Amino acid sequence: MIKASLISIAAYAPKSILTNYDLEKMVETSDEWIVKRTGIKQRHIAQKDESTSDLGYEAAKVAIKRANLSPCQIDAIICATISPDYLCMPSTATQIARKLGLLNITAFDISAACTGFVYALEMAKALVESGIKKNVLIIGAEKLSAITNWKDRTTCVLFGDGAGAAVISQSKDENFIIDTHTASDGSKGDLLITPGCGSINPASKEMLENELQFIHMKGNEVFRVAVQTLTNDVLNILEKNQIQASNIDLFAPHQANLRIIKAVQQRLELNDDKCVVTVDRYGNTSSASIPMALNFAYENSKLKKGDLVLLDAFGGGFTWGSALLKFGGEIYNVRENF
Ligand code: UT7
Repeated sequence: MIKASLISIAAYAPKSILTNYDLEKMVETSDEWIVKRTGIKQRHIAQKDESTSDLGYEAAKVAIKRANLSPCQIDAIICATISPDYLCMPSTATQIARKLGLLNITAFDISAACTGFVYALEMAKALVESGIKKNVLIIGAEKLSAITNWKDRTTCVLFGDGAGAAVISQSKDENFIIDTHTASDGSKGDLLITPGCGSINPASKEMLENELQFIHMKGNEVFRVAVQTLTNDVLNILEKNQIQASNIDLFAPHQANLRIIKAVQQRLELNDDKCVVTVDRYGNTSSASIPMALNFAYENSKLKKGDLVLLDAFGGGFTWGSALLKFGGEIYNVRENF
């Protein structure tokens, strides 16, 4: 039976950095509050003329290179995003494909908010294991600054821009994706929502005046459900696969809030060196957060071939998911950046 493997990881963060001190000058907040409640110290913000597909493309080309493939060997692109280049069409995946020079390829977006990368991983695994596709490029890319209300202190301190990408291919050894789990509960959709620009509140002067085009979140209600759901989800996937938490080499959770990450980490009884934290430097980058965290571990030699990796994510919808995999990528080449 064919097994799918995650054979490369890469990420891109836009150059410009917005610190908590910068935000103090924009809204009534403080570095102390933001760090204490979220763990975030700074976030990267894309330029005005930099699109979500630009960010995704930067991560994608490195992921393809690290997979020792050329773009023409990729036969499907899945982009997870809640901040696409265009609301309806063309999809961001098609625009990343265009930038990679791929003009005859399966390419589509998925909308699963912060869980998008885990959803994309599950789709890619299915495509590869069914034999339908050989090399699937999955991307989480977000320009959340474009859908953030910079006057709303309850949300604008949380989000950042960035992208992460991975190549999923047929496994040649024991380092394959062991299992994925994805789920949703639409009854809580209103707790984390961009109410405007869709069929319910189409673009209008009134819609813009009410600022419905931006992310709206009932933070503390989301927080409570996130901790409970994520904890159950990671315990379930471990139990289902009869794997002890102590065997995990790397836990790469969605980076929304350090307190959520720590709660799940403690439940798993994992040491800090097994848990990737990037929320301090990138903020919450939604679907990009897991691949950016994985890439951070990879480039800091904390992720190597054969490592047992646990992913978890929770986001708007609500959606949530987890994955267990043995990393199939080659060791990071430090010379790459010279
Ligand atoms: O990625 C998708 C999933 N998202 C999440 O998982 C996010 C989950 N939620 C959270 O991470 C947290 O709920 C937040 C970080 C968003 C908020 O933290 P909190 O501890 O839940 O704060 P809160 O919303 O209960 O607000 C506490 C207080 C309020 O003041 P009062 O009513 O107690 O006087 C807020 O008005 O903090 C105030 N506040 C702020 N103060 C300074 C809210 N935002 C700010 C701010 N600066 N930026």
